[in-house]
Amino acid sequence: MTRYHVTQTDSRRQASYVIMAKMAASMVESGEDAFRKIFKFYKRRNPPPDFSDVIDFSRGVPSAKVISAKLDLAAVSDTEAARVGLQSVRDWRAFSLQGYPGFIFISNPFLLGSQPFWVRQCLKTYPQKPNVCNLDMHMSPSDTQDIWGKSIHGLSGPPSGKRESKTLLERLRWVTLGYHYNWDTKTYSANHYTPFPDELHWLSFQITAACGFPGFNAEAGILNYYRSDSCLGIHVDESELDHSRPLLSFSFGQSAIFLLGGTCRQDPPTAMYMHSGDVMVMSGQSRLLYHAVPRIIPAPQGHTALEMEGCSLASPLQDSTVLEQMSEQDWAVCSRYIQSSRVNVTVRQVLGPGQSFPETPSQHHRTDAGQTDEYHEGSVDGERPKRKRSSSCDSIDIGET
Ligand code: OGA
Ligand code: MN
Repeated sequence: MTRYHVTQTDSRRQASYVIMAKMAASMVESGEDAFRKIFKFYKRRNPPPDFSDVIDFSRGVPSAKVISAKLDLAAVSDTEAARVGLQSVRDWRAFSLQGYPGFIFISNPFLLGSQPFWVRQCLKTYPQKPNVCNLDMHMSPSDTQDIWGKSIHGLSGPPSGKRESKTLLERLRWVTLGYHYNWDTKTYSANHYTPFPDELHWLSFQITAACGFPGFNAEAGILNYYRSDSCLGIHVDESELDHSRPLLSFSFGQSAIFLLGGTCRQDPPTAMYMHSGDVMVMSGQSRLLYHAVPRIIPAPQGHTALEMEGCSLASPLQDSTVLEQMSEQDWAVCSRYIQSSRVNVTVRQVLGPGQSFPETPSQHHRTDAGQTDEYHEGSVDGERPKRKRSSSCDSIDIGET
């Protein structure tokens, strides 16, 4: 009897294990963790989601979770800030978020009229060789030599829908700088390095210094180019070898919904807007959190126009500035591009002081923790290594949806 009873209990237990295992397996298959659910919620087009829970830092302290962040006012002089196009640190509106230590959001610290310079760097300068971009994956070096030059004519014409084919600039999805991120091995390596742009290093250096991280060394950059229907999958940036150094993120052009989660995908993420000029610093405990961009949204009325057209209002450039005057034509192309696109620049320090790359391929990599996700899934020109496609969201990528 006892024996039978025990056996029956065991078999029931076994049956419930089987059910649980099946549930777990189907959860992994459909990816229905808390992060994914919220990602899908904000990605949905029809009907559009309710955005009322999205934190908007540009509106001051908008929610109970938002705290004003203390900056190191002595770390960056007004002159040093202005040289890279930033307002005096005293005037920055910097915030942190309850529950996310080390996360700092700076609501557009740029001087009026300086964003256009950074946008032009992203569209005209950084895609140039020797930097690497998605178009290199299936085009010859001579064809990707002058993306800007080959695109400006098309971009001055009628909107791309009416044209035969998209310009190279419209097909640009990512560019890597410095230590070029390898999307296959998810590593950086000593032998794939080209000089990191000086001005972007200095911009990052000043911002991180004001956030309490003196001596930041910008070594790798990833630029993401989003159209209105692009998104960026759920991921953690952990390929860098020194995680004690912060990661910076800059947004230009159209706005986006950014989701900041926890250390595992069961943690529901917090949604926030990123508008043109906004800067995020992920450091400390927030350096290795899951995050994603489920949606690009139109910039608030007049927002980009105001920020960007400040270009003509800019005060005369200082002698020592890294900013350069922009031609009318360059500005016409840039402003047209960002009317429907968003550019995001992330800047990373890969190695700690005195650190070097290991001999063997690194174990550190940008991960999706073995889930069915995706950083950017290869679109036509995406050429990021295809990852297993999720059944619930078949276009988590930075290409067209
Ligand atoms: C990244 C990233 C976020 C963004 O490139 O790693 O998380 O806002 N970008 O585009
Ligand atoms: Mn990231």
